[in-house]
Amino acid sequence: MFGKKKPIPQIDKDQLELIENAQKRIKQKKRLYIHFVIFLIGAIFLIAANTVLGIGKDFKLFGKEWFLFAILIWLFFFLYHLFNVFITHKFMGETWEKEQLEKLVAKQQERIDKLKAGFVKEETLIAQSEVYAEANPKIQSPKSKKTQSELTIIVAAAENDAIGKGNKLIWHLSNDLKRFKNLTNGHHIIMGRKTFESFPKPLPNRTHIVITRQNDYKVPDGVIVVNSLEDAIDAAKSDPQPFIIGGGEIYKQALLLADKIELTRVHEDFEADTYFPKIDTSVWKEIANTFHTKDEKHKHEFSFLTYERI
Ligand SMILES: NC(=O)c1ccc[n+]([C@@H]2O[C@H](COP(=O)([O-])OP(=O)(O)OC[C@H]3O[C@@H](n4cnc5c(N)ncnc54)[C@H](OP(=O)(O)O)[C@@H]3O)[C@@H](O)[C@H]2O)c1
Repeated sequence: MFGKKKPIPQIDKDQLELIENAQKRIKQKKRLYIHFVIFLIGAIFLIAANTVLGIGKDFKLFGKEWFLFAILIWLFFFLYHLFNVFITHKFMGETWEKEQLEKLVAKQQERIDKLKAGFVKEETLIAQSEVYAEANPKIQSPKSKKTQSELTIIVAAAENDAIGKGNKLIWHLSNDLKRFKNLTNGHHIIMGRKTFESFPKPLPNRTHIVITRQNDYKVPDGVIVVNSLEDAIDAAKSDPQPFIIGGGEIYKQALLLADKIELTRVHEDFEADTYFPKIDTSVWKEIANTFHTKDEKHKHEFSFLTYERI
């Protein structure tokens, strides 16, 4: 009770602006109303001045009484006033302009926020790839390939991307085997443990690198065993063109790191349990394509294709 101040009602800035605006509009309409009343009285007065008091009785314009023109001119000004209050001030007044401006600013802000979100996403991806590169210094990102060896995937895949079944190849294509032999001759060949086990014995004149998670995996002399794809690439770093020769699991991981794909596309669909990943043509550009028909040594049509990372 004592010393307690009466709470003063708080009006925020927006409310105050609304009130001021409403007061302004009331004043404008009031002025228009007064103008209308004066116009009516004035018109009656002009008519009376001419007809009753005889002012300018002999003065005519285009054969008509002068007060007619005076009233018409006044009517024009009144209509102009009316237009100002209901059109100019309502749709083009300060408040209207402010509202439009606020709407535009809000829209621009929305676009800026979207762009910012895009930037943050891109920056995060760049940061992630930099962290990944730092954590795996042995792996060169595809962008730095020019100065490094050309990591090449070599694979034969059907139209439905089938590559193997029951740990065996699905077809026998003499020219494909020849091509494999020619391309990989003298190079390091990197493979998963299962693909290695699908060979009767290691291939001549190639350095085999087998990837397994097993610690005590036994291999013949000369075969290198590693525990990750990164270590396999590292073990082949002296080779200007090491080859990834399969199978499905290793292709999937290596596709992210490879610079080139030597693909034999067999133009049929096959039943399989192992597949090659889809080749994304926004990442890979076809640079060579040679078609082969069926013959006595080749039961299926096929093409030799070469892709390079864009
Ligand atoms: N058409 C072709 O061009 C072609 C070429 C090659 C192979 N193939 C076919 O592909 C099939 C084999 O492929 P697949 O996918 O079953 O097996 P795979 O890729 O040859 O080998 C898989 C094995 O590799 C090891 N491995 C995979 N990723 C690893 C990693 N990140 N770190 C450590 N070790 C890793 C594991 O060995 P552990 O289990 O020992 O840990 C895994 O079981 C066969 O049918 C074969 O005939 C086809």
